[in-house]
Amino acid sequence: MCGIIGFTGRCEAAPILLEGLRRLEYRGYDSAGLVTGTGRQLHVRKKAGRLCELLRLLAAQPAAGCYGIGHTRWATHGPANDRNAHPHTDSRGWIAVVHNGVIDNYAVLREQLQRQGVVFRSDTDTEVLAHLIARCYQGDLVGAVQQALQLVRGTYGLAVVCQQEPGIIVAARLGSPLVIGSGRAGRYLASDAHALAGWVDKLHYLEDGQICQLSGEDCELFDQRLAPLTITLQDAPGELTDGLLDKGDYPHFMLKEIYEQPEALTNAMRGRLHEADATAHFGGLNLTAAQLRQVERIIITGCGTSYYAGLVGEYLIEELARLPVEVEYASELRYRHPPLDRHTILLAITQSGETADTLAAVREAKRRGQITLAICNVVGSSIAREADGGVYLHAGPEIGVASTKAFTAQCLVLTLLALYLGRLRHLSAAQGQRILQELRALPEAVRAAFACHTQVKSIAEKYAHVHNALYLGRQYLYPVALEGALKLKEISYIHAEGYPAAEMKHGPIALVDEHTPSVFLVPRGQVFDKVLANMQEIKARGGPIIAVVSGHDPEVAALADDVISIPHVPEYLQPIVAVVPLQLLAYEMALLRGCDVDRPRHLAKSVTVE
Ligand code: G6P
Repeated sequence: MCGIIGFTGRCEAAPILLEGLRRLEYRGYDSAGLVTGTGRQLHVRKKAGRLCELLRLLAAQPAAGCYGIGHTRWATHGPANDRNAHPHTDSRGWIAVVHNGVIDNYAVLREQLQRQGVVFRSDTDTEVLAHLIARCYQGDLVGAVQQALQLVRGTYGLAVVCQQEPGIIVAARLGSPLVIGSGRAGRYLASDAHALAGWVDKLHYLEDGQICQLSGEDCELFDQRLAPLTITLQDAPGELTDGLLDKGDYPHFMLKEIYEQPEALTNAMRGRLHEADATAHFGGLNLTAAQLRQVERIIITGCGTSYYAGLVGEYLIEELARLPVEVEYASELRYRHPPLDRHTILLAITQSGETADTLAAVREAKRRGQITLAICNVVGSSIAREADGGVYLHAGPEIGVASTKAFTAQCLVLTLLALYLGRLRHLSAAQGQRILQELRALPEAVRAAFACHTQVKSIAEKYAHVHNALYLGRQYLYPVALEGALKLKEISYIHAEGYPAAEMKHGPIALVDEHTPSVFLVPRGQVFDKVLANMQEIKARGGPIIAVVSGHDPEVAALADDVISIPHVPEYLQPIVAVVPLQLLAYEMALLRGCDVDRPRHLAKSVTVE
């Protein structure tokens, strides 16, 4: 979702801003823009569409200057067009603002400003900020930003420049991430630390309510009342390297990340399997074994793919640890008022660690005195810092908008957590040992699952033209059916529904015809026969069947039109292996339909508005 970049220093800003915006492209956006300054003049350039449109504009109308801010926009208020692209300026063009987040009371503020004669040039909530800051400006930009923000309700990560104060960038954060960094060439600012790769070795993540002022030589930090604060510069995270955004030999990040899964799983497990105690262990839970034994209920929350990993977690924790688990969309949980006692903990699952709803759900739980844990991929992200404790995935950066390796790493970490909690309760050492052994074999099983790729490609050719698809599975594979359907929707724009296989009789079966394939997840397990019966029901209605089976399965082959074979693993690990062909199927279908796999329309990698 929207990205922010800023630079002030000793060299031309525009090339740095453009490179930063390129690095932020993966978040998903629909327009881009920047502003630079020379002397007492600002140069605003902005364009709807991909970054190449902005580049074309800059080739015709260059923007000179050694300081500036840039933005990739994901439309919330008003369509994606040149007018609504950021930066937004005040009426005189003195102040330019880029903004992530949503100003909740923008309509009231806009009306007030219009009554005072302000003419708006965009439909955005952000333009309100530019006018408010201009009205508060009396020769001190940081003061004007601070005053304007007093009038605003909502969330923001914002950066502001003013032509009267060359070389100065003011930034502020409330609910939308911002990080500042210093490097040899000057001072930098971004909404995502990845954008600063190779430029900075030290970072400061702004906390909510902080305001900062950057110049080429200095960074000053303030609280909401403009009282000075000390900057705590941290080392930039290890993965912050120039090679980060490199696709290697792969045509797309999504494919690269699918193929990175065996390694990601190995990394997520590294150092966490404890032979002697036949359990898993974690460095960052910040809870003692005694505290964890007191836990009587877990509420898992997340959004999108992370929510589906949470559903897998529900089966895992209930089976291995015998603890009741509820899984709730973060966007719902944050406004619900479930009765929670002090033995209930909240477990947030999030790849980015920045999803606005998940962050809000964590904060709400904390406010009510619950212990919060997070399973997170991005080190130092807002949720990782906000939760009381947690586990990092160590899956490496995920750039493709459609989540793949984060999902399998999340399922794996949830398995480790379930094992750990189980061993604190009733699981025997022998059971623990068996699970450790099965976990160790898992990365190899995922690698072996890639053998289906050629076959998946030909299945994709057969079905790339369809308008609907069903994904059906039961028990551990029900969340995988949901995830498979989501992958197809996200990147190929085919309507797909995931359902518990037996439940499809209560509605979705009405969709079945010869043009609607059903993808069945039927590896051997306790409900194998039941799923077979569900397949018969689809078959009887003329629906084509694609079946995912473990090993060779003649019974399924007799019913299915296409059979995809994956390696045999125990049922509780099947989600991690069975999702691989579904990821590949979505990828191949999207390619055949000419879709932009890594940057699907309307979607964002990190959803920082609620
Ligand atoms: C967006 C992404 C999804 C992701 C979801 C939750 O919708 O496109 O891939 O699953 O957000 O993101 P999180 O970073 O919290 O896991």
